[in-house]
Amino acid sequence: MTAQLNPRGDVAVLVPAAGSGVRLGPGGPKALRPLDGEPLLVHAVRRIAAAPSVRLIVVAAPPDGLDAVRAMLDPVAPVRVVPGGAHRQESVAGALAAVPRDLGIVLVHDAARALTPPELVESVAAAVRGGCPAVIPVLPVVDTIKEVGPHDLVRGTVDRAALRSVQTPQGFRHDVLAKAHAAASDPLTDDAGLVEKAGIPVTCVPGSELAMKITRPLDLILAEALLRVAARVR
Ligand code: C5P
Repeated sequence: MTAQLNPRGDVAVLVPAAGSGVRLGPGGPKALRPLDGEPLLVHAVRRIAAAPSVRLIVVAAPPDGLDAVRAMLDPVAPVRVVPGGAHRQESVAGALAAVPRDLGIVLVHDAARALTPPELVESVAAAVRGGCPAVIPVLPVVDTIKEVGPHDLVRGTVDRAALRSVQTPQGFRHDVLAKAHAAASDPLTDDAGLVEKAGIPVTCVPGSELAMKITRPLDLILAEALLRVAARVR
């Protein structure tokens, strides 16, 4: 069944989905790889559309696959599809340009985090609504982290208590994200990084194990197992 978005919602979600996904091995754009018989992007959009505050979803798709992506998402939710760029940042900027000014909160979410629960979309949006200009979902770092120099020699051990691994969706006041993108020079891997560079505070909220990034072949296997567990407990 096609989801209905909330016409009174105050949130737009941008989904950059135009990456090639080389780390996942051969097989085309990562967002379009199947997970349990459906493309990652379909899983991601279905969960975003289930978040009650979302009024608009904009997907940045591979430029040669716009019609295919529209056809794929049509039965899932009403989605605007725009061509992606050469870098993630360009894809996000293209999607942001399609968001009307009156939508006050903009979230940026990687299609590769296909199992992200709607509750995480809501908690990030709620923190922005509550007054934070920029919000990121994070998890504690569990591994010991070393800084390594030339010749694989360890330089030192980083105090992991102060480290967090960062997920998406990252949430922003619309004007804050627009200004950060307008001022961006070098491509970064996350949007909060652009906002940090502009000197604007970025607030952490608890992330979710389900928002894991599906990047390597092992991640696909783990994600399929998670889906099976979720189906059993439903
Ligand atoms: O390559 P990486 O894993 O960092 O990509 C993160 C997200 O950004 C993915 O959903 C990918 O499809 C998207 N992306 C994009 N346009 C690019 C490169 C990556 O939309 N040119």
